[in-house]
Amino acid sequence: MKKITIAIDGYSSCGKSTIAKALAAKLGYSYVDSGAMYRSITLFCIRRGIIKDGRFDHSDVIRELDNINLTFVYNPAAKASDTYLNGENVEREIRTLDVSSHVSHISLIREVRQKLVAIQREMGKNKGVVMDGRDIGTNVFPDAELKIFVTADTDVRTQRRVDELRAKGHKVSVEEVKKNLLHRDYEDSHRKENPLVQAPDAIVLDNTDLTREEQLDFVFSRVMELKLEQD
Ligand code: DC
Repeated sequence: MKKITIAIDGYSSCGKSTIAKALAAKLGYSYVDSGAMYRSITLFCIRRGIIKDGRFDHSDVIRELDNINLTFVYNPAAKASDTYLNGENVEREIRTLDVSSHVSHISLIREVRQKLVAIQREMGKNKGVVMDGRDIGTNVFPDAELKIFVTADTDVRTQRRVDELRAKGHKVSVEEVKKNLLHRDYEDSHRKENPLVQAPDAIVLDNTDLTREEQLDFVFSRVMELKLEQD
């Protein structure tokens, strides 16, 4: 069957990666987590002391971009690729609240976006890819055959994120996670470069009251409909 490109965009912590990963596995497609790339650059900047007391100069980040090498290695246990920053597996480090609280500011830098969008387009050039993020359907792959825009109630999203972080051993409070989530939603949707907006041709998936299976059924059915139309 003809391979397609699937873009899954939406607000923070609404389960995009869970849906994208499950859909990719079911279709035998590759899954790309574009947020992990923005997070890796943020981690690099924290470690190098470029971000100090929550502040940084855009020029310091831009100057380092050529020293940042991102690679992705499939991890069968996770059924997805782990992200490597200059040869180091940083899957765990990029998910901390510290990284989350700076990533929206790093991701609004035009040069950062140019570098990462180029990598994302290269990874999806042969189709057969499910990519999640904020600007996949609007900017990275505006011609994607299927675009899903995911949303969910804020308190439900917060609780999911808290559970995920605590399961990984991070000590976080509900209040700080909710604050970070709302802050990122605002920053991601109001930035100048490729903000988070729903593509006009995207299908909305509100998963507040849906199980994982129901969500997978929903997106898989959309793919099947498309294939029928295209075959
Ligand atoms: O999906 P995530 O929460 O891991 O993404 C982390 C941040 O990266 C998000 O708050 C904004 C940024 N991002 C982006 O600007 N564009 C993307 N395509 C993906 C993520």
